[in-house]
Amino acid sequence: MTGPFGAAPAGSDSPRPRHRFRRLRRSASLRALVRETRLSVDDLIWPVFVKDGDGADEPIASMPGVARRSIGSVVAAAEEAQSLGIPAICLFPYIEPHLKTEDCADVWSDDNLVNRTIRAVKAAAPDVSVMTDIALDPYNINGHDGYVVDGEILNDETVAALVRMALAQARAGADILGPSDMMDGRIGAIRQALEAVGHQGVTILSYAAKYASAFYGPFRDAVGASGALKGDKKTYQMDPGNSDEALRLVARDLDEGADMVMVKPGMPYLDICRRVKEEFGVPTFAYQVSGEYAMLAGAAQNGWLDHDKVMLESLLAFKRAGCDGVLTYFAPQAARLLG
Ligand code: PBG
Repeated sequence: MTGPFGAAPAGSDSPRPRHRFRRLRRSASLRALVRETRLSVDDLIWPVFVKDGDGADEPIASMPGVARRSIGSVVAAAEEAQSLGIPAICLFPYIEPHLKTEDCADVWSDDNLVNRTIRAVKAAAPDVSVMTDIALDPYNINGHDGYVVDGEILNDETVAALVRMALAQARAGADILGPSDMMDGRIGAIRQALEAVGHQGVTILSYAAKYASAFYGPFRDAVGASGALKGDKKTYQMDPGNSDEALRLVARDLDEGADMVMVKPGMPYLDICRRVKEEFGVPTFAYQVSGEYAMLAGAAQNGWLDHDKVMLESLLAFKRAGCDGVLTYFAPQAARLLG
C-alpha cells in the first residue's frame, strides 16, 4: 500500500475482510434502501397544556419552547396538527390553585377546562384525535393522582372518581382516554362504564407501565402540581428496578379492556418497550416525558447538542425499540422536519 499511511511491513499481509458492512453505508441512497426502522408523522402524539382565560401563551421555564395555552391557542395547535398530519393531541390542564380541592369535584364536570377544550378542538380540527389524561393530580389539593386520607392514597374511591371523569370526557367527545393514575382496577371500571352508557367506541390507551420517575418534574411545573405535591408517588407508580412487573401490568390492563398500552418515561425504559412489544404484539406507545424533553431542549438551547438531530434520533429510538408511536413535546417540530 502506498499513500500517507505507508506500506504494510513485509510479511504482515492481513487477509481481506470477509464482510464489509461499510459497503451499504457508502451513500445516502444505499443507507435508505436498507434502513430497518423509520419515523413518520403518523407516529406522533402531541401533548399540550391548556389553561383558562384568553391570555397569551405562558412559557414553561423548564420546558424551553413549550407553553401553557388558552383554549383558543390549543385550537390553533390542533389546526396546526391537522395540517401537519399529526394524528393526535393529548390535553393536560393547568388548574388554578384556588380551584384545587380535596374531592377534585371539577374532574367530572361537563364544563371543566378539559371538556370545554375537547369540544372546541373537535369542532375545529375533526381529523385530529383528542386524547385526555385521567388522573386527579392537577385538580387535587395534595397534588396526588388519587384521593388522600391520612397520608394514604385510596384506590377504590379514586377509581370511582376516575370513572366519572372518563364518562365526562367521553361525553365531550374524547377519542382516546389515557388513564395515567396507576390505581388498580381502573381500566376495567372505565371500560364497563363506557359500555354501559353507549360509549363502546371510545379507545383506552392505558399508562400501563408507569414508573415513579424523577423525569416528570417539569410537567408538574407545567400543570401547577409541583407546589401542591406532598411526598412521592411510589405507592402507586412502579419501582424503576422492575421489568417483569411491567409485563404483568400490561397483561392485566389488556385483559380489563385497554386497546393500547404505554410505557413511561421513554428513553430510560426502552428495554421495557421492547419486552412489551415482543410479549404482547399490541399497539405500544412510549411517553418521552417532560424531563427527557428538558434535557434535550435545554442542552440544544445552550448549543451543546444539535436540536433537530437529537430530537429525530431520540424519536427514532422508540420505533427501533418496538413502539408504534410516541407522545412527545417535539411533535410539531418533528412533523415539520419529517414533511
Ligand atoms: C399525571 C401525569 C404525569 C405525567 C403525565 N400524567 C405526572 C406524574 O405522574 O406525576 C408526566 C408527563 C411528563 O412528565 O411529561 N398523572
